[in-house]
Amino acid sequence: MSTPAWVEKRKQDIEEIIGRYPQKRSAMMPLLHLAQEERGWIADEDVEAIAEILGVSKSLVESVCSFYSLFYRRPMGKYVITVCGNIACGLSGAAELTRYLEQRLGIKVGETTPDGLITLLVTGECIAACDGAPALQVNLEYCGNVTFERADEIIELIKKGEDPAAISDRFGIPPVKAL
Ligand code: FES
Repeated sequence: MSTPAWVEKRKQDIEEIIGRYPQKRSAMMPLLHLAQEERGWIADEDVEAIAEILGVSKSLVESVCSFYSLFYRRPMGKYVITVCGNIACGLSGAAELTRYLEQRLGIKVGETTPDGLITLLVTGECIAACDGAPALQVNLEYCGNVTFERADEIIELIKKGEDPAAISDRFGIPPVKAL
């Protein structure tokens, strides 16, 4: 299997990341993030390259990768909308929001729009934004209190190519006020 291009391109970053830890293998998750940042998902050749860089088995990298739902092992859209389906969000309309998004995007959960722009996912894990339920993530950025109207606005911003962090700035979870 060939070495992925990002290994050479991000050589300095890889060395800097590994240098942060007393044991090389501790750099596994940051390197998985880096691979995903470069490709948009984690291919077999990325798993193999990370195993080789860290001197561990491919199965160890694979097991870490498959444990965390935010590491994608298949191609995703440029934007990944992940709706939280855990209790607080479930009680606040996450299922209805998910159905609305499916209808609005013309895809089912797990699918990507034909233009490759948006993948829709639901996670059963709490994304730690319960005070903004129902909440979702656009890539890794949070949006809270997502009504159907807000969902429409989020989709429009995505279609305009807005940065996920800027979308979150607009629809993010308000900071908790000190008592
Ligand atoms: S249950 Fe959805 S953020 Fe916690």
